[in-house]
Amino acid sequence: MLADRTAPAGAAARAAPAGLHAGSMVFDRVVSGYHGNMIVRGVSFEVPACGIIAIVGPNGSGKSTLIKTAFGLVRVASGQIRFGNQNLAGMSPAQRLACGIGYVPQLPSVFPSMSVQENLEMGLYCDRGSAEAAHPLEYAYELFPQLAERRSAAARTLSGGERRMLEISRSMLLRPSLLLLDEPSVGLSPALTKHMFEILVRLRETAGVALLVIEQNAKTALQICDEGIVLVGGKIAYHGKGKELLADDEVRRTFLGGGR
Ligand SMILES: Nc1ncnc2c1ncn2[C@@H]1O[C@H](COP(=O)(O)OP(=O)(O)O)[C@@H](O)[C@H]1O
Ligand SMILES: [Mg+2]
Repeated sequence: MLADRTAPAGAAARAAPAGLHAGSMVFDRVVSGYHGNMIVRGVSFEVPACGIIAIVGPNGSGKSTLIKTAFGLVRVASGQIRFGNQNLAGMSPAQRLACGIGYVPQLPSVFPSMSVQENLEMGLYCDRGSAEAAHPLEYAYELFPQLAERRSAAARTLSGGERRMLEISRSMLLRPSLLLLDEPSVGLSPALTKHMFEILVRLRETAGVALLVIEQNAKTALQICDEGIVLVGGKIAYHGKGKELLADDEVRRTFLGGGR
């Protein structure tokens, strides 16, 4: 049972010292981009421990760049990103994983010819603690029982929704305290998108993980998040409680396709 899960040795080693909020990430005037072309232009907000923050906004507004910066795939040009009380500057993605930060990229990241089980094993690649646990993959199957039924199937035979579940459960194997999700519903039907968000809310409740989630489907994302951020041109245009943003005339007209 999820509620009874015991933390693997690796998680204990990663646990933040007492008094720190391991899942809390602070963006402080973050500027980042590519080859001197700054895309994220001075962004400040916090993802509290166990919080769900949604980032929405038009294509090309820098959402993926922001989340890649949080995972160390794009360098911070100025400003700071802190996790707990640790400045993440100079830390590689692998080091961030070890700190308890997970990342599910926008583009598909399953290995199609590998089985579900083998794909999950890849998620333990850089963690000795979990790999030494008796059945490290069982946690993924607890989160998504329907993957357990398909454990021997090649990943390419999974539906789009099942592949996304595989990616999310793989990123959960290292027991992150913060999960960065770049468009988890991309390619999914409206019904599956709704299901995906129910899963994410449940993950927060059962695994105590904070979520920073980028979403094209702004209405759905703003309904389930604690706070929403509208990113436009690499800057925060609106930041507020998800439901307040949904009710805001200007946000609705400009970003959510008009009427109620
Ligand atoms: N690897 C890259 N190299 C150079 N420019 C990039 C790269 N990735 C994204 N960009 C540019 O950064 C801008 C923002 O892209 P992105 O962060 O992917 O936006 P979003 O996720 O909001 O659609 C776009 O103009 C895009 O062309
Ligand atoms: Mg993107």
